[in-house]
Amino acid sequence: MTKAVGDLTEAEARAELADLAARIAAANDAYHTRDAPEITDAEYDALKTRNAAIEARFPGLKRVDSPSDQVGGALAEGFGKVTHAVRMLSLENAFEDGDVADFDDRVRRYLNLTGALSYTAEPKIDGLSLSLRYEQGRLVQAATRGDGEVGENVTANALTIKDIPQTLSGAPKILEVRGEVYMSHEDFALLNARQAERGEKPFANPRNAAAGSLRQLDAAITARRPLRFFAYAWGQLSEPLAATQSGALRRLAEMGFQTNPLTVLCDGPAAMLAHYRTIEAQRATLGYDIDGVVYKVDDLALQQRLGFRSSTPRWAIAHKFPAQLAWTRLEAIDIQVGRTGALSPVARLTPVTVGGVVVSNATLHNEDYIAGRSASGEVIRDGKDIRVGDWVQVYRAGDVIPKIADVDLARRPDTARPYIFPQTCPECGSPAHRAEGDAVRRCTGGLICPAQGIERLKHFVSRGAFDIEGLGARQIEMFFNDADLPVRTPADIFTLAARDAANPLRKLKNRDGYGETSAKKLFAAIEARRRIPLDRLIFALGIRHAGEAAAGLLARHYGAWPALEAALTQAAPGNDAWAELTAIDGVGDTLATSLTEAFANKAERAAIDALVAELDVQPVARAATDSPVAGKTLVFTGTLEKMTRAEAKARAEALGAKVAGSVSAKTDLLIAGPGAGSKAKEAARLGIEVIDEDQWLALIGAA
Ligand code: IVH
Repeated sequence: MTKAVGDLTEAEARAELADLAARIAAANDAYHTRDAPEITDAEYDALKTRNAAIEARFPGLKRVDSPSDQVGGALAEGFGKVTHAVRMLSLENAFEDGDVADFDDRVRRYLNLTGALSYTAEPKIDGLSLSLRYEQGRLVQAATRGDGEVGENVTANALTIKDIPQTLSGAPKILEVRGEVYMSHEDFALLNARQAERGEKPFANPRNAAAGSLRQLDAAITARRPLRFFAYAWGQLSEPLAATQSGALRRLAEMGFQTNPLTVLCDGPAAMLAHYRTIEAQRATLGYDIDGVVYKVDDLALQQRLGFRSSTPRWAIAHKFPAQLAWTRLEAIDIQVGRTGALSPVARLTPVTVGGVVVSNATLHNEDYIAGRSASGEVIRDGKDIRVGDWVQVYRAGDVIPKIADVDLARRPDTARPYIFPQTCPECGSPAHRAEGDAVRRCTGGLICPAQGIERLKHFVSRGAFDIEGLGARQIEMFFNDADLPVRTPADIFTLAARDAANPLRKLKNRDGYGETSAKKLFAAIEARRRIPLDRLIFALGIRHAGEAAAGLLARHYGAWPALEAALTQAAPGNDAWAELTAIDGVGDTLATSLTEAFANKAERAAIDALVAELDVQPVARAATDSPVAGKTLVFTGTLEKMTRAEAKARAEALGAKVAGSVSAKTDLLIAGPGAGSKAKEAARLGIEVIDEDQWLALIGAA
């Protein structure tokens, strides 16, 4: 696993910069000089981004031949893609007062801290996040969050927003300011009145209006929309802004950014909750939407130590305001069939406004939920079932899909009958089966089910998978039912061009929405994806439980397609291949079963084989073998003095090690601090190497 830039030692950073310079130079040579690219654009961008991030953290290590100083591609027109130098993360949520105390406890335990600990508390603005990049004090780029790694380039649009300074004085050479673009209630009302006058569709809420206004291809339209911006965080920096979160906010304010006036410093959970109540009381009169309060550890050195989980920082939490509720009538229950065959009931409602948003659909989860039971059989809603015709209470919290919370039995029509959940797939008629222990009923039609087929293809072409330009959900729906050029399975995508060439009549270029150029472009985009890294291929297959993280683990373990294919074909509970598969940290029996079942299923296997025959699957570097502890099983015992257990564990895992709780024959190394007891004895008995904390730090290059 790649180490987070924040965790690199200077020596590691120097070595990696050298390696990156060589790899980027080789990629440039392949692309520009030999016209034979060896890596994808995304991989190239990732190398450049990583290089820039390391240079930002260690400015003194920047090489004379730094790839950052070489001219990259010109910025794309309109919404080009921007790879964020530092990922844009989201926040963990807290809903109850107790969650705030738990958060404080977790932070303290992680840091092993008992003394004073301050947090900032500020409103959580309900808009959309934006990252503004300033170089030498000039705004050079603005990007939306996108998927956190890659956002849209909306520089021209951001330049029209009054709250966003175009130049800064006294700013670090490189400064990425992050914050929220939003629209005030007053401006929102005026905008909607104007929309209505012109016969255009009104926006559902200020947040949608802000998003729709910022993401206009014509920046002149954005300029006419009254957008505002609050700064609350930062990305890449060439030098620190301050030693604390509150200090950094003050500096941003001095540079000319709007920071939220309701930000205060709190000395612990009691003060945080008090400020939450203050903000909640002012919510209705603030003039803009907020959906909670964000608490952040104030000391930036502590933030750095706390670091991140996969997509959220450990040093912050969003304390959300309670959900908003409304009553309406349930008009119908529809069943949607997903990629893995899950039958999901959807409530069709008489439209109702819930917290400013018009809601006409809500999730009903599964058949038990409708019947008034939880998945584990316990009674919910006092056992009240949900029937078509009922008055139901809808609630929504933030961005999540609205849910049905309650039923009003007093208003139930006499004609309302208990809902009978279908036992066959409404799309293909195959039996819908509910496995023991599964809350969900699933269509057994597999590849013959058109709903599953379409959803799988949509997943196949999605961002983390094959990401084929010009082939999105809309085009998949069109091709799926196309009489001349049907795309029913992933392999069909790669035969599209040849089939089109062989078809004398309805060529793609002669169809609605296509011309000579766009047809050619689509075929070229497909062609470009024949070369695909193993992890993306695994994820793209859409096998249940095999998400992006699992795909990465499998790819790094098996390295290449033939090894993976052989393993998944052979693996069966009890044999060696199964043992190897389930020994991968992060691969449990559920995933292993799902994978081996997919490979054992004749139709599925034929589809996979046909696809792979069309591809050039790129091997992936096997798990981080460059780290001295990669693949090793470690145990920590006794007291650690330089870091807490949790920190030590996170570090070790980032270096590819597995951390176990007890010593066994599988243990490779025991790190023993003062006070080590039975574990050290057991290790000695088993002849396992034992080192102390300093030796451990030296081993991982952190001494
Ligand atoms: S801090 C590393 N502070 O909430 C975390 N986020 O649910 C950086 N948001 O993606 C975010 N107000 O778009 C932070 N005062 C605030 C915020 C805030 C709104 C948004 C932001 C973030 C989302 C997470």
